[in-house]
Amino acid sequence: MYGKEIKKVLISKEDIAKRVAEIGELISKEYEGERITLVCTLRGACVFFADLMRAIKGDVEIDFIAASSYGSGMSTSGEVKLVKDLSEPIKGKNIIVVEDIIDTGVTLSYLKRLLLTREPKSLKICSLLDKPSRRKVEFKGDYIGFEIENEFVVGYGLDFDQKLRHYPDVCVLAPEMYAE
Ligand code: PRP
Repeated sequence: MYGKEIKKVLISKEDIAKRVAEIGELISKEYEGERITLVCTLRGACVFFADLMRAIKGDVEIDFIAASSYGSGMSTSGEVKLVKDLSEPIKGKNIIVVEDIIDTGVTLSYLKRLLLTREPKSLKICSLLDKPSRRKVEFKGDYIGFEIENEFVVGYGLDFDQKLRHYPDVCVLAPEMYAE
């Protein structure tokens, strides 16, 4: 169904849906009787976020934050900028930060440090994808959808140069797309 920009489908939308349902169930159980604030890290996590929030039963609020560690290409600059802050204070709240991918770990280390200074009741990290082989800083997520190899993935929210986020599956980008 995809063109030559895609090498292969890595995780199908059906497999994603199954895993999202499992994570939603786990979070629902762990936070039973508690209010959760789900924080979407724009932009990559938006598709996962929309699916995950509907898989959680209970008392859920949502908010949005945006940090950027990548340039327009494929390599991280190592610096993180806060592009958009949360709309509400989080003091005393149960926060789950929802990401699309943990790569070097730089973005989430920064966000976690920043949000902890605001004294939430609890703070956990949920990421659809994890590429542990790429870490530059030590970082561990609390809920992980899939651990993947070091391949350039797009779709289900993830982009290549701001494109391809709308593809429904997590796909491996054809290397020709980013070869010089
Ligand atoms: C991507 C991704 C994570 C981060 C992961 O965001 O959404 O936030 O990079 O990389 P790291 O672990 O190496 O820090 P990006 O800055 O590309 O913005 P986007 O969400 O708008 O695509």
